[in-house]
Amino acid sequence: MKDFVYNAPTKVIFGRNKENQAGQLIIEYFSTYEKDTKPNVLIVLGGGSAVKSGLLERVSNSLKDFGIKFLSISGVVPNPRISLAREGIELCKKHNINFLLAVGGGSVIDTAKAIGYGVANPEIDVWDIYSGKATAKGCTPIGCILTIAAAGSEMSNSSVMTNEDGWLKRGYNSEYSRCKFAILNPELTMTLPMYQTQSGAVDILMHTLERYFAPERSFVKDNIASNGGIYGGPEGIAELTDGLAESLMKVVIKNARKLMNEPNDYNARAEMMWASSLSHNGLTACGGTGDWSCHQMEHELGGMFDVAHGAGLSALWGTWARYVYADCPSRFAKFAVDVMGVEPVYENGTEDLMKTSLKGIEALEDFFRYIKMPTCIKDLGIEPTNEQIAQMALKCSFYHKRKVGGFHPLDASDMEKIYKAAL
Ligand code: NZQ
Ligand code: ZN
Repeated sequence: MKDFVYNAPTKVIFGRNKENQAGQLIIEYFSTYEKDTKPNVLIVLGGGSAVKSGLLERVSNSLKDFGIKFLSISGVVPNPRISLAREGIELCKKHNINFLLAVGGGSVIDTAKAIGYGVANPEIDVWDIYSGKATAKGCTPIGCILTIAAAGSEMSNSSVMTNEDGWLKRGYNSEYSRCKFAILNPELTMTLPMYQTQSGAVDILMHTLERYFAPERSFVKDNIASNGGIYGGPEGIAELTDGLAESLMKVVIKNARKLMNEPNDYNARAEMMWASSLSHNGLTACGGTGDWSCHQMEHELGGMFDVAHGAGLSALWGTWARYVYADCPSRFAKFAVDVMGVEPVYENGTEDLMKTSLKGIEALEDFFRYIKMPTCIKDLGIEPTNEQIAQMALKCSFYHKRKVGGFHPLDASDMEKIYKAAL
C-alpha cells in the first residue's frame, strides 16, 4: 500500500431534526476555538428551497434560541457564480461576520467557502484563488446543513466556482475550507426533484469511481497492464480501500434504484447522504491518487452550458471509459465483476479481460439509463458545435499547459475526441 495522508476533521451530526442543533453547534465551536469572541453569522442560501420547506425558519429559530446574531444572503445558483460570493464578502466585511452557515447543496457550501476565502484573504481578489494566481492563507469558519446528497462539499476540502466573465468554472482545494460541522438530516433531501436526486447519485458514485481508477491501485490480479510502468505493481494494492470503494459504489447504485420508486424511503436517503460525505472526504482514495478527467471535462460543460454536474458526468463517463480501458483492463474487469456484478467472460479457459471490462462499462451505462441520467451529451439537451468543443478542450487543457487524468493522461486533442464521441 502506498503512503497517504487522511484528514477528515468535519464533525458530522446525522439524523432526523438535527438542523435544530445549529445554534448549539455554533456556540460549541466558539467556546472551544474562539473563546473570547461572540458568533456573528452569515447564513448562505440557494434559490428558495430552504425557505419553501420551512428549513430556514427552523435554523433561524435555533440560532435565536442561543442569542446568535445573524444575517443572510440568498440566490446561489447551481454552478455558483463568483459575483454572488463577492457580494457576500462585502457583506461580511461590513458587518464583521465571523462564521458562515451554508444551508443548501454543494453550490451553497462552495459559495460559503469562496466567501470565507475572500474575507480571510482581503489583499487578493477571490477569483485569483480559483484561477491559480493566488493561494489562500485562511478561510472564515464554516458550518453546513446539507439539503442534497451529491457534491460531498460538506466534508471535502474543495470548492468549485464559475466566473461569468469568460464562463470559466474552476475548483480550488485547501484544508482551510473544511466545514467545522456538517448537519446531515436525510429527510431534508425528500423535497428534491428526482432529476436532482439522481444527478446527485451519479456525482457520489463518480467521486469514488474517479479515485478507483488510480494508477497506483490499478495493478490488481496480474501483470496485464499494457503500457507497463505507470501502474502500481504489488506495492500499490490497497485491498481495504478497494473494498470500501466497492461497497460504497454498490450501496449508491442499489439505493439510487430504490429511490426511483420510493423517493421517501428514509433509509435509502440516509445511505445516499452518508455516501455523499464519505465518497469525497478522501476515504476511498487512501493509498492512491485518482483519474479525475471526467470531472475536469464536465466542469467545462457546466461552465459553458450550465448543466447539472452529476448529469454532465454520466454523459461523459462511458465514452471516457471506452477511450482508456485498454490501458489496464484488469482494473476495469475488477470494477465490472466486483461492483457491477457482471459474469467474467472466458475464451478458451482464460478470462478475456477486455470483454469483461466492456460488459462492466455497459452495465454502468444501463444503470444511468435506469435512473434517467444521460449517457451522451445530447441527452443533456445541448448540442455543442465543433467550435465549442474545441473551446472546451482548450480551456480544460489550460490552453495546452496541462494534461488531465491520472489513470490515462489526456491532452486537448484527446479531450476533443472524447467530447465528439460522447455527443
Ligand atoms: O437553490 P435551491 O432552491 O436550494 O435549489 C437547489 C438547486 O436548484 C436544489 N435543491 C437542493 N436541495 C434541495 C433542492 N430542491 C429541493 N429540495 C432540496 N432539499 O437542487 C439544485 C442543485 O443544487 P446544487 O447545490 O447545485 O447541487 P449539488 O450539491 O449537486 O452541487 C453542485 C455543485 O457542486 C460542485 C459542482 O461542480 C456544482 O457546481 N461540486 C463541488 C464539489 C466540492 N465542493 O467538493 C465537488 C464536486 O465534484 C462538484 O464539482
Ligand atoms: Zn463531482
